[in-house]
Amino acid sequence: MSAVEPLHHVIREPVPGDARALEVAERECFPDPWPGHLILAEIHACGRFQRVAVSPDGDLMAYVLGVWQYLDLHILKIATCPPHRRRGLASELLRLAEAHAAESGGETVTLEVRTSNRPAIAMYRSLGYVVRGIRRCYYGDGEDALIMTRTVGRGSGGPRTGILKGEDR
Ligand SMILES: CC(C)(COP(=O)(O)OP(=O)(O)OC[C@H]1O[C@@H](n2cnc3c(N)ncnc32)[C@H](O)[C@@H]1OP(=O)(O)O)[C@@H](O)C(=O)NCCC(=O)NCCS
Repeated sequence: MSAVEPLHHVIREPVPGDARALEVAERECFPDPWPGHLILAEIHACGRFQRVAVSPDGDLMAYVLGVWQYLDLHILKIATCPPHRRRGLASELLRLAEAHAAESGGETVTLEVRTSNRPAIAMYRSLGYVVRGIRRCYYGDGEDALIMTRTVGRGSGGPRTGILKGEDR
């Protein structure tokens, strides 16, 4: 029998009241965290795909923030708070983003990842993302980024239901 507690969580769209918890999580998860005002602006922005995973008590566990760039859903942020890692949360959020992209008529989901970020690269590879290029000195500290992409919708044989709508979030 596994000693790991079953994972109970709810996935929903973020609301402005989540900005503070997202700001704290950013500082826990990234060397270059987004400030609160940027997170709040993202939550209010159009043309986004955003989800948070929260515990039954309402505590933030993981999140994904994406923005449409024509037929590509570009992942701006994906993170799982340290106590909840290796439980499949980030994979679940990325799968939701891919399903949303395909259902909305998108063709790809794309993201940048630090070349040193082995856990994230391992996750993206396990989910079928492939390296499409490199952005030199992409990060403020000079580190390069790998550009990783997964084809969804038409390119992968999935649904292609219509043009993107302005209300897609
Ligand atoms: C990368 C990150 C989002 C993964 O979140 P997670 O919820 O733990 O990921 P999952 O549980 O869905 O992991 C899925 C698979 O990815 C791989 N993986 C995830 N973390 C890993 C690690 N530390 N080492 C090796 N492989 C790892 C494994 O293949 C894993 O499957 P497994 O647990 O069955 O072996 C999380 O470590 C994180 O928030 N890191 C800091 C923020 C960050 O780097 N975000 C990505 C920016 S591009």
